[in-house]
Amino acid sequence: MVGEGSWIFDESFNAAKMLEYESKMDEFIGENPLDACCIYDTSVINKRMLLQISGLHPFIFDTDSFTPNYDYFKDTYGHVCESDECRQLYMGTATMASEMFRIRGFYTEDHCKNVSRLACAIARKMNEIRLAGELETAGMIHDIGMMTIFSEMIGKPGKLAWFESQLLHEHPLVGYELVKKVPFPRPIAKAILEHHERLDGSGYPLGLKGDEISIGGKILAVAEVVSAMSFYRIYRDDYGVEVALNEIEKEADRFYDSDVVGACLKCFEEGFEF
Ligand SMILES: [Fe+2]
Ligand SMILES: [Fe+2]
Repeated sequence: MVGEGSWIFDESFNAAKMLEYESKMDEFIGENPLDACCIYDTSVINKRMLLQISGLHPFIFDTDSFTPNYDYFKDTYGHVCESDECRQLYMGTATMASEMFRIRGFYTEDHCKNVSRLACAIARKMNEIRLAGELETAGMIHDIGMMTIFSEMIGKPGKLAWFESQLLHEHPLVGYELVKKVPFPRPIAKAILEHHERLDGSGYPLGLKGDEISIGGKILAVAEVVSAMSFYRIYRDDYGVEVALNEIEKEADRFYDSDVVGACLKCFEEGFEF
């Protein structure tokens, strides 16, 4: 490390200093967003420093490709408040955020509310009662990271340009970063991060596989795809609840958890409606 940033590696290095440095970098970068790549010389920093630095970076360049840094994605909040007041606060915060999102007009239908209701119903069907409440909140704000997407991309017919699809693929990560700032119960931010992951590793943003995806993430993924496919989108012809349910049944075990798919189908058999 040379020049302006050298001071962070003096003898009293700590994570707070590193954060100060990173926020100075943010100011410096200002209106020219870029992805920073940090290279550390492990011969001059010790293991403790390395662990602290590691916790600040979402991806690591390992041999020849970027891999998710699990230190970064371990959840910040251990405290879970289960009182009615806390639940109301969680849901109120999520509703306010989703309302701002709705005003930007991403979806013609109330996609966030649909995902919230269906994810909650699936979790209940699977006897995951606490998770049901958490997913009700997560569903409301699962796409909040789309706030960074250009308005021209919204409702654009046809294929997205490469950089547009890169931006789109980052929305769960952006959502995770935003939601992490609120002391919600742990599974909420995690499910938002994972709502486009697929069991076979073909999802995004991290390409997680199988049980690397939390149960909340697996449920939110099914609720999200069923809601999205049930309604018209300018870039595809085929839609409707039946199309959506056929899709999750066909792709159970490959993309979607089969227990979650079973519970979702049951919810519709028993009268669930958007
Ligand atoms: Fe999404
Ligand atoms: Fe969505």
